Amino acid sequence: MAEEFIVRPATLNDAERIFALVHLNRDQLVPRSLGNIVENIDRFFIAECSGEMTGCATYQVHPELGDALASTVEVQSLAVKSMFRRRGIGKALVEAVIRRVQPLHPSEIVVLTFAPEFFKALSFSEIPKTKVMHKLYTGCINCTKHTNPFTCPEIAMRLCFRANDPASPPRS
Ligand SMILES: CC(C)(COP(=O)(O)OP(=O)(O)OC[C@H]1O[C@@H](n2cnc3c(N)ncnc32)[C@H](O)[C@@H]1OP(=O)(O)O)[C@@H](O)C(=O)NCCC(=O)NCCS
Repeated sequence: MAEEFIVRPATLNDAERIFALVHLNRDQLVPRSLGNIVENIDRFFIAECSGEMTGCATYQVHPELGDALASTVEVQSLAVKSMFRRRGIGKALVEAVIRRVQPLHPSEIVVLTFAPEFFKALSFSEIPKTKVMHKLYTGCINCTKHTNPFTCPEIAMRLCFRANDPASPPRS
């Protein structure tokens, strides 16, 4: 039987393990230094199974995307250790991020991902990459794998929050 897992806010003690997991998934994730993880530790969540860290996720508010007063939030650095995948851990981590940012009243949550089926299962839908242009020209511009963000196979997706009722559940 699969072991139970918990999702909790990260602590400084988790930073090195988050760094290792993000690095392990460097083909799918934007690299992060240990210093960057420590600086932003208050925005990370981790999943644990019997004390072992099995996954992590974080987010960033992007006032430069969309409406500054109902900003866009991006899910970042989402990874689950390969032997713990398909047990609902990734979903629980994204749901923890959604619960955390919902009281901030964002207009939407976006993600740039190589795992569109996973996000589709969480009601995200694909959007043109032009909707996250600023992100492309600040993050993707540093990519060493693809010369052009528009030919890169990464997919932009979003989950919208209901207009004028930010406390309501998100919709796709
Ligand atoms: C994407 C990732 C976080 C998913 O984590 P996970 O714990 O396996 O996901 P879950 O078990 O919560 O999956 C929830 C649902 O998403 C869908 N899903 C998950 N992985 C999928 C896959 N590889 N292909 C198709 N559907 C998938 C399924 O519908 C799944 O439900 P089911 O298992 O009942 O069918 C994990 O595969 C991973 O770490 N990948 C490498 C890093 C990465 O790509 N991160 C995303 C960057 S934005």
